[in-house]
Amino acid sequence: MTGFNDFAIARALHVFSVLIWIGGVAFVTLVLLPACRDLAAPREQLALFERLEHRFAPIARWTVLLAGLSGLWLTWRLGAWERFADPLGWWWMHGMVAVWSLFALMLFVLEPFVLPRLFARLAERDPEALMARVQRLHRVLLAASLLVVLGAVAGSHGGWRF
Ligand code: HEM
Repeated sequence: MTGFNDFAIARALHVFSVLIWIGGVAFVTLVLLPACRDLAAPREQLALFERLEHRFAPIARWTVLLAGLSGLWLTWRLGAWERFADPLGWWWMHGMVAVWSLFALMLFVLEPFVLPRLFARLAERDPEALMARVQRLHRVLLAASLLVVLGAVAGSHGGWRF
């Protein structure tokens, strides 16, 4: 058998991009952010965090884009659109789209256009509260992403059919 298995390649690209993206989110949430809060004075924590984390932003944008495109390709090749009519049975399909949409909103809209001004204002008032909030938001996003990763790997291999 020879040939070009676009479905397998799309699946490989999907997992590859999710790996780099969610792995990066785990590192930022569990290592980088707590380290910035430990190492700098309250008024300098946000600036330090932004200076280090901004290197990950383009990586996150490209991998989110690739995960979305490969995900759409997989959905189309599987003819899996009707899964979206059954949110309970296919919760992890909805979970993937929900997690993707949250990050896309964050990376392509809020982070470049809304957060800089908002964060500057909040940091002025109470920098420690802001950093605690940033950390909480990262933890919630990471937890949701990991739950969806577990659900999607098990689900793609028949794990939720009893
Ligand atoms: C627009 C967004 C997305 C779409 C349309 C999409 C679609 C899909 C489809 C159709 C599959 C194959 C399911 C099957 O074989 O039955 C899949 C697999 C998978 N997706 Fe997504 N996905 C998206 C985003 C995400 C996100 C954000 C994550 C991670 C949080 C994710 C993680 C996974 C994983 C881990 C698999 C399983 C791969 C395997 O074990 O073979 N996807 N996705």
